[in-house]
Amino acid sequence: MRIEVDDVTAPLDKRIDFYSASRLTGDATAEDLETIRRHTAVYVYETPVRLWHWVNAAAIIVLCVTGYLIGRPPPSMDIAEATHQFTFGYIRFAHFAAGMIMTVGFFGRIYWAFVGNHHARQMFRLPVWNRHWWREVLFEVRWYAFLEKEPKKYVGHNPLAQIAMFFFMTIGLSFMILTGFALYAEGVGQGSLMDTVFGPVRDLVGNSQALHSIHRLGMWAIVVFIMIHIYAAIREDIMSRQSMVSTMISGHRTFKDDKPD
Ligand code: HEM
Ligand code: HEM
Repeated sequence: MRIEVDDVTAPLDKRIDFYSASRLTGDATAEDLETIRRHTAVYVYETPVRLWHWVNAAAIIVLCVTGYLIGRPPPSMDIAEATHQFTFGYIRFAHFAAGMIMTVGFFGRIYWAFVGNHHARQMFRLPVWNRHWWREVLFEVRWYAFLEKEPKKYVGHNPLAQIAMFFFMTIGLSFMILTGFALYAEGVGQGSLMDTVFGPVRDLVGNSQALHSIHRLGMWAIVVFIMIHIYAAIREDIMSRQSMVSTMISGHRTFKDDKPD
């Protein structure tokens, strides 16, 4: 039963008897109610950021699987004549389609860094001149190495995650887009607009073989990022003082305790 006081100017906790309200919250005890009364959530990742995250993750998985197969083609004449199966054609088609989706998404994400909230900008810049930020980087290294007992609270990304996202995603995806389109331009043909725009990337790295190799190397860097990233997201969901995975689903960061720092 919810007991409310008529005076609407009185503070919320004076107006509502939270212990009586426990019936509304299942098996909550008086202690639980006291806790939920003080804990609040912060809206951190807006819809476009979350949407981009999951579309980008799916596109990258497709790119890694199909890219790997492009580098190490499967035998295409297992079942029937190669021309009747178009196996490699489908693999390359999936790669290019996912590549285009990832590129458009990335530009959309850059746009959102300008118009979104300040957390949307975190992935694109590192506050390298800020001493406090470096101290937190060091702290996070110690925390991930199990050398700190108590983690810090963060509303956006922690500084170590921010560094990883900046190098592997902001720089990494730009690199994959540039080299990917330079490879694509070879297929479109010499003298095409695509070749005029991206051809210089191939000339810069030397030749087509070198371009293939660095594009493939980029994939392995991204695979390493994905493994560390998923480990860290789940580990921090369990061990940190705030929500993680659900934050990338709902956008809200919730805190597990109400200690001030
Ligand atoms: C996360 C992003 C990406 C990953 C992980 C990735 C991965 C790969 C890998 C591993 C290869 C094989 C390289 C080799 O051994 O020769 C490849 C080839 C290729 N990729 Fe990507 N790629 C990505 C993004 C892109 C993008 C954005 C495009 C642009 C459309 C693109 C276009 C190509 C092309 C044209 C080839 C050569 C296909 C061929 O030679 O048949 N890639 N990619
Ligand atoms: C290919 C796979 C993935 C890639 C490339 C990827 C990439 C990213 C990037 C770039 C961000 C920063 C978002 C931004 O600031 O805009 C991020 C954040 C995040 N990702 Fe992923 N992600 C992947 C898979 C996953 C999976 C499977 C999970 C869940 C288990 C996950 C959970 C998270 C969480 C919780 C955050 C926010 C971390 C924080 O608040 O500090 N990601 N991811």
